[in-house]
Amino acid sequence: MQEQRSAPPREPAHIEVRRAVEADVPSITRIYNEGIIDRVATLEVEERTEEERRAWLTNRSERHPVLVAVRDGQVVGWASLNQFNPREAYRFVADFSVYVAREARGSGIGSRLLEALIAEARRLGYHKLVLAAFPFNGAGRRLYRRFGFREVGTYREQGVLDGRWVDVIIMELLLDRDPPPVKAN
Ligand SMILES: CC(C)(COP(=O)(O)OP(=O)(O)OC[C@H]1O[C@@H](n2cnc3c(N)ncnc32)[C@H](O)[C@@H]1OP(=O)(O)O)[C@@H](O)C(=O)NCCC(=O)NCCS
Repeated sequence: MQEQRSAPPREPAHIEVRRAVEADVPSITRIYNEGIIDRVATLEVEERTEEERRAWLTNRSERHPVLVAVRDGQVVGWASLNQFNPREAYRFVADFSVYVAREARGSGIGSRLLEALIAEARRLGYHKLVLAAFPFNGAGRRLYRRFGFREVGTYREQGVLDGRWVDVIIMELLLDRDPPPVKAN
């Protein structure tokens, strides 16, 4: 009888999360457009061009970074801290985005990106992260719950996507319990 050989154990893929650079723009654009086309992530329906994403990336402030996840040399996801509201009172609240390439979803990349993004938000002194998600985005909702996000509530029929009303769930994560910083006058 022929000797049964089991395949050698697969090395877990090496995933690096780092700040995005201009060379990442084509991958970021492709991954964002997949999210737009799939209609699971955003009320945005216009696909983006690399030119538009380049301007988006290069015009961001230090407090609104973009991170990418790199697996085996390929950018397979990105995440960003976004301005929630320009009013001064909201400066400790950040909105965020997280997008994983279709072929890489469900393999822990979103979790790695969100973990790094939360660490970055703490480092930058944010008090809270907020986001809006569709009720039918099962992967997104599990991801956020896993990191302790609380569902604040649901906006009923908040947007129109392909001719249908869609509800939007608002979620939040408090990053610290410190009192608000006192402004020196
Ligand atoms: C949502 C998204 C960022 C999650 O990233 P991911 O790499 O696929 O997720 P992970 O593999 O890290 O898994 C995170 C959680 O989601 C769950 N999950 C992953 N894929 C899922 C799916 N298709 N259906 C249901 N749950 C799923 C995982 O089991 C895990 O939950 P657990 O920790 O309770 O087991 C990714 O799927 C994505 O980019 N989707 C399209 C864009 C999008 O929806 N962005 C978010 C907008 S709000």
